[in-house]
Amino acid sequence: MIIAPSLLAADFSQLKEELKKVSGAPWLHLDVMDGHFVPNLSFGIPVIASIRPLTQQIFDTHLMVSNPFALMDAYIKAGADRITFHVEIEDPIEPIIEYLKMRKIPVGLSLKPKTPVATVLPYLDKVDQILVMSVEPGFGGQSFLTSALDVIDTLDDVRSQKNLSFLIGVDGGINHETGLDCLRRGADFLVAGSFVFNAKNPQQVIEAFDDH
Ligand code: DX5
Ligand code: ZN
Repeated sequence: MIIAPSLLAADFSQLKEELKKVSGAPWLHLDVMDGHFVPNLSFGIPVIASIRPLTQQIFDTHLMVSNPFALMDAYIKAGADRITFHVEIEDPIEPIIEYLKMRKIPVGLSLKPKTPVATVLPYLDKVDQILVMSVEPGFGGQSFLTSALDVIDTLDDVRSQKNLSFLIGVDGGINHETGLDCLRRGADFLVAGSFVFNAKNPQQVIEAFDDH
């Protein structure tokens, strides 16, 4: 099980200190928003580049943007290690997958809660991970939508039937309880923002996920 704290929930006035709080996690989840694909803005390339020297963690970059292809090279240069974009975007999907493969960047596809799981099925043999959104993307601190569990079930079934190896991640409203539900259904990694960063002891919260 991999835990990926989401930097979106950090105090941006002291990113260096915030990063130390979650340094025990193998991945750091970076939510990039464009104010168009989702009704919010977060941070982008300059912030990713400026925190890159501060940690060895895998930068699991989640692009909530309508046209990710235009800046793909810049995300990679800034230090993104794994890049997930959405199946609902305007850009064609296949060329982005091909490009990231060519650049040897593990590639992920994400789907919003209301998007039928069928939309990602054609890509399951081509991607490294599927990120199941368990909240409407755009904001941290929302409650987990249990419909995500059915999506995990379907993905896990197809994965074993077709003998595929993509990872299943879940993003939004994750705490120890909802996280355990996701793991039981077949999730491999969990993104947690507010639950980790708002904790008195984020390191302890991260370690408690490992116990599951
Ligand atoms: C939502 C983001 C999530 C968010 C999760 O658009 O993709 O990664 O940071 O935050 P919590 O864990 O607070 O729901
Ligand atoms: Zn995210």
